[in-house]
Amino acid sequence: MRIDKLLANLGYGSRKDVKQLLKKGLVKADGAKLSSASSHVDPEAQEITVSGETVDYKPYIYLMMHKPQQVISATVDDVHDTVIDILEIEDAVRDPFPVGRLDKDTEGLLLITNDGKFAHALTSPKKGVKKTYEAVLDQDVSEEDTALFKSGVTLDAGYVTKPAELYVKDGIDKKEVIVVISEGKFHQVKRMFEAVGKKVLYLKRTHIGTLALDPDLAPGEYREMSSDEVEDLLEEAYQKKSNGSL
Ligand code: URA
Repeated sequence: MRIDKLLANLGYGSRKDVKQLLKKGLVKADGAKLSSASSHVDPEAQEITVSGETVDYKPYIYLMMHKPQQVISATVDDVHDTVIDILEIEDAVRDPFPVGRLDKDTEGLLLITNDGKFAHALTSPKKGVKKTYEAVLDQDVSEEDTALFKSGVTLDAGYVTKPAELYVKDGIDKKEVIVVISEGKFHQVKRMFEAVGKKVLYLKRTHIGTLALDPDLAPGEYREMSSDEVEDLLEEAYQKKSNGSL
């Protein structure tokens, strides 16, 4: 990988800034000065230092965000802020993208990464990783709705959904529900409720597989995932563990 791209991606400034660091002789690979921006380095095999400090190279970033409402799950948008626009610059420069989508008016757990394999494992219909949502509806749900969700509801375009769980959140207010789905069709939760004659007024994703949204994250905040969280999710996806109870 080119040294200027590596250092720019890791937040050492623009490629122009990195050129200056190189010019000043501040960048070394295994102790040897690098002077050209186009020098190729292998950050996994070589020790890269800037001003004597070792560069902490991690090939991928994995972020957990509490997506706020009114922000788009995309990398660019002409009108609205995207989830990438609200990242710190040192994370935004790593070319991250959201893992799947939440609607503009949906809040909650959104993962952001630059690891395509990780994103694929969590969104592939074959893997069937469960996603859990809290919803507030315009009407009470019935036991019939729960049974319909379990057997699969027919959406507007004729598609029959995979079995989903539906239950009342606190067992009392039948407009506040929990839904667990194992697929991710466009507006899926809203369309499933529409199919049983109800409207979703509020939607929040709380879990992906067994990973819960960190309660310390307010809407708009995010943090790095721990390596255990990343590995556990991948393991779930590959073992289809999260499909177990559906
Ligand atoms: N289902 C929806 O309808 N919207 C979302 O944002 C996520 C799931």
